[in-house]
Amino acid sequence: MSARRYVYDAPEAAAQACAKNTAGVLEGILARAPAATLAISGGSTPRRMFEFLAGAAIDWARVHLFWVDERAVPPSDPQSNYLAAEQTLIRPARIPPENVHRIRAELPPEEAATAYADEIREYFRLKPDELPAFDIVHCGMGADAHTASLFPGEPLIEDGAKIAAAVYVKKLAQHRITLLPGVLRKAAHVVFLVGGEDKRAALRAVFEGPYDPLEYPAQLVARGGAEGDVLWFLDRAAAGPVDKR
Ligand code: 6PG
Repeated sequence: MSARRYVYDAPEAAAQACAKNTAGVLEGILARAPAATLAISGGSTPRRMFEFLAGAAIDWARVHLFWVDERAVPPSDPQSNYLAAEQTLIRPARIPPENVHRIRAELPPEEAATAYADEIREYFRLKPDELPAFDIVHCGMGADAHTASLFPGEPLIEDGAKIAAAVYVKKLAQHRITLLPGVLRKAAHVVFLVGGEDKRAALRAVFEGPYDPLEYPAQLVARGGAEGDVLWFLDRAAAGPVDKR
């Protein structure tokens, strides 16, 4: 499907637009299904978006929240993606605990990844080797074009079969747990929220550079055959000046 880009002068506007789109997708799903599934990423960019999303008039009791990735730290650690979401989305939106499918990153990374994949299999009632189709997945992107916790050079960028894995991010000297490309591509909707001038070069490479997801991991969703629609919500700093040609 297509990858459409929406650019906003201010990061706040991009975050609000991304939240509005995400809320609209969830409302649409809940209009015809008993529950909806949302997988979110971490990092600093999405905090404001989560706050906007928490204010949306959604029946959160019917939304099941999952993570795209998590740092291998306990949920109380300031680096925890769960902790950030708990503060900006889960608590304000009053998402029921039974709907929160946290990656138990306090476990050894491999064990955490296996437990998370098992929980996903159970929730989605997957057959062996079947991948989950999330209704909507939120991704960010690093200045090195990484997405999820799939950093340049990570061999699992070429894995289209498994659900989740533990990875070691050498440049951060950090273990992480991440969903894998097959799951990101299978989502019905993917929204990227990317902001800041430090992301501009990576964005250009992702969209205009050679297709090389090992080098530019975000391409694996943006240009790598996502089954659903992929929307990018960008601020002007990341998108670059308006092309006046
Ligand atoms: C994480 C994220 C990661 C993030 C990018 C961008 O755990 O850090 O899931 O993929 O989206 O690193 O992070 P910033 O928003 O902090 O730039």
